[in-house]
Amino acid sequence: MKRTDVLVIGSGAGGLSCALRLAQAGIAVTVVSKGPLSGGSTLWAQGGISAVLDAEDSVEHHVHDTLVAGAGLCDEQAVRFTVERGASSVRWLINQGVEFTRDEDDQRELHLTREGGHSHRRVVHAADATGRAVETTLSSLAAAHPNIQALENTLAVDLIVDAGLKRVVGAYLLDVEAGGVRAVTARAVVLATGGANQVYLYSSNPNGASGDGIAMAWRAGCRIANMEFMQFHPTCMFHPDARNFLISEALRGEGALLRLPNDDGSPGERFMPRFDERAELAPRDIVARAIDHEMKRLGLKHVLLDITHKPADFIRSHFPSIHARCLELGIDITKEPIPVVPSAHFTCGGVLTDLRARTDVAGLYAVGEVACTGLHGANRLASNSLLECLVFAQAAAEDLIANLPGVPPQPDAAPWDESRVTDSDEDVVVSHNWLELRTFMWDYVGIVRTTKRLQRAQHRIDLLQQEIQEYYGNYRISADLIELRNLVTVADLIVRSALSRPESRGLHYTLDYPDTRTESVITVLPGRG
Ligand code: FAD
Ligand code: SIN
Repeated sequence: MKRTDVLVIGSGAGGLSCALRLAQAGIAVTVVSKGPLSGGSTLWAQGGISAVLDAEDSVEHHVHDTLVAGAGLCDEQAVRFTVERGASSVRWLINQGVEFTRDEDDQRELHLTREGGHSHRRVVHAADATGRAVETTLSSLAAAHPNIQALENTLAVDLIVDAGLKRVVGAYLLDVEAGGVRAVTARAVVLATGGANQVYLYSSNPNGASGDGIAMAWRAGCRIANMEFMQFHPTCMFHPDARNFLISEALRGEGALLRLPNDDGSPGERFMPRFDERAELAPRDIVARAIDHEMKRLGLKHVLLDITHKPADFIRSHFPSIHARCLELGIDITKEPIPVVPSAHFTCGGVLTDLRARTDVAGLYAVGEVACTGLHGANRLASNSLLECLVFAQAAAEDLIANLPGVPPQPDAAPWDESRVTDSDEDVVVSHNWLELRTFMWDYVGIVRTTKRLQRAQHRIDLLQQEIQEYYGNYRISADLIELRNLVTVADLIVRSALSRPESRGLHYTLDYPDTRTESVITVLPGRG
């Protein structure tokens, strides 16, 4: 296969919902995914999808909550655009066959749960495994659709851009299992590659979250915005065998409390009311910072999340996956608190797009976590991410359906040139640099920052970039090398963005500038082009 109409890179909620909408309109789509079709963060999403569905709730309330969480940096037009399309996006999923949890008293109604920063119950969910319900439904539909060709274990290395037209014309794709890179041309490309949270040592995300789409778009000349706003989820499991297992915010939404451990490990003081009047339901940046503060102040390895005061049946039926996984690890959450720590969870910044999901490069769209649409500002409201995937995938599909007929098929692209490279005999360079990068990002560019720490990180990034570029130029590429190259690019974008913000706002907190400026400005870095 050398040519397709629309190349969708990524098969999470963003990529698959866009591909299905295009395919249902008769457009031929190729979806590539660097792992299995149902890989990516979407599969692991727990809490749910926020949408205004309750008579007591309103679009205005949801807009307001999103703007408050975003700490003055959201684009209100993008917020309104997204929130207004929430209910119809959930209905679209239901029409595709996704089964959400129903209200116990009235099975015709969806059960709505609550999460931090939401003034109303508005989170639609499939028990505590919402992402699994969405991803498995969409991936089976995509795999069966005659207009969709799915290429699994296929990693996009770089976009192919016609420099004269400043138009994307395809991408170079690496066959992860067999090796070898091929050029595929397309009339349009949709980036739906997810976030970059593996840039930190501890993350709730699966391994592939290496910011490939952000790095590719930046190399292609797209502007990248707000990369300093990396979200840390307050409650990931603290356990040697399950460091990236998330404990959903929905537990706090249903009453779980954060406590300090006593000396003997038993649950002690409830500490969140000391930090914010919304306590456990304050926005994520506040809760994660409070936990980090208490852990550093008391030299703790973790804090405790306690839901034992709720009836055991309620816990088992609302949180069956979390209950089962914790039991496997020896913790019965109906009787014992869960040891938790914050970990890197969501990339609020990304490839700058407009309300049609268009980027700076003609024919190139970005949807889902890879994009910066203006919805999240300086901090994402819980469960607004899957919503953003669905809304902007629809926007991209509508724009493509309207405009693709005017775009001619592209001629073949130049083949990938491997004439000057050899096989690597030192793969340790890649694994060493992965660990080094993720460790100093965790230590120097984490929840609390200082200018000196950011400068230290920048210095190390500069050295790593040189080393990785040299390696890339001399050796045959592998998936690990490509991900490392992208991660170091993303780390550079994060640190440069953080250094250019002399204030604390939302997820960017620096001891050198603890106050928030009155003027609110987004950070925009030009693409390399
Ligand atoms: P993903 O679902 O991450 O998919 C990325 C896709 O891109 C994958 O198919 C991957 O293989 C592919 N890919 C990446 N790079 C390449 C490449 N170079 N070449 C080819 N393919 C590539 N959000 C909510 O709104 N509600 C929640 O309850 C919620 N819970 C969460 C729980 C967990 C544990 C995690 C990790 C996240 C959660 N989030 C939640 C966030 C949300 O799940 C993600 O932001 C969202 O799923 C991202 O979807 P996406 O389509 O952008 O990318
Ligand atoms: C969670 O279930 O806590 C994750 C929700 C989200 O990231 O939006």
